[in-house]
Amino acid sequence: MNFLDIGGGEGSLASTISKKVRTTFVIEPNQNFYRQLLKQKKIKILNEKWETSHPNVLFDFILAAYVMTYFPKTERKQLIKKMYNFLRPGGHILILSVDAEKGSWRKIHTYFYKLIRHTHNSSDEALKQITREYKAISKSFKTRVIAKNADEMLEILGFDFYKYQNDFSKFFDDLKKFLSRYTDSSGKVILEIAHNAYIIKK
Ligand SMILES: C[S@@+](CC[C@H](N)C(=O)[O-])C[C@H]1O[C@@H](n2cnc3c(N)ncnc32)[C@H](O)[C@@H]1O
Repeated sequence: MNFLDIGGGEGSLASTISKKVRTTFVIEPNQNFYRQLLKQKKIKILNEKWETSHPNVLFDFILAAYVMTYFPKTERKQLIKKMYNFLRPGGHILILSVDAEKGSWRKIHTYFYKLIRHTHNSSDEALKQITREYKAISKSFKTRVIAKNADEMLEILGFDFYKYQNDFSKFFDDLKKFLSRYTDSSGKVILEIAHNAYIIKK
């Protein structure tokens, strides 16, 4: 089968799946990830955004993992339609996202956005609505992020908040305090991520 990973990042999911399929395409606009992906021989890489991408094949399986949030809000619906149009009859799309409310991982994000007075709308709400039109099946699952202490967890979170570096430094102590409720007796900090999976079949 032909498999397409939209926003494949450094390619860990694509690499695993590529072992089970005939051809793997990855769309990845970020230059650093693109260079990392080039090391993988079995994968065809398109260094562009999904908005502007026009692969010359149809796919049996399209994965869009944690990428919807990066699509322009007004184009989300149309970009999912584009995935559907690139699907062969009988093919599947799997869209993964982080739940808008559940999970302590989301809670610390919401807390930070509140501190900096930033209105953040989770793309998961939009996904729920859009995928309903395709009669998508939805499933949910949880994973945990475990750090050896609060500093390490804040280093991990810093990746998500890189756009707000000054605010992140300014509210570092507040965030550290917030994490204390998720710290166990050995000092480990554990945050839970609630994921939603939307499966569309053509
Ligand atoms: C949170 S990462 C997820 C990476 C990977 N899918 C995973 O689950 O490990 C989001 C990825 O989407 C890519 N991305 C951002 N905007 C995109 C767009 N408009 N079209 C395609 N990919 C995009 C980013 O460069 C990044 O690699």
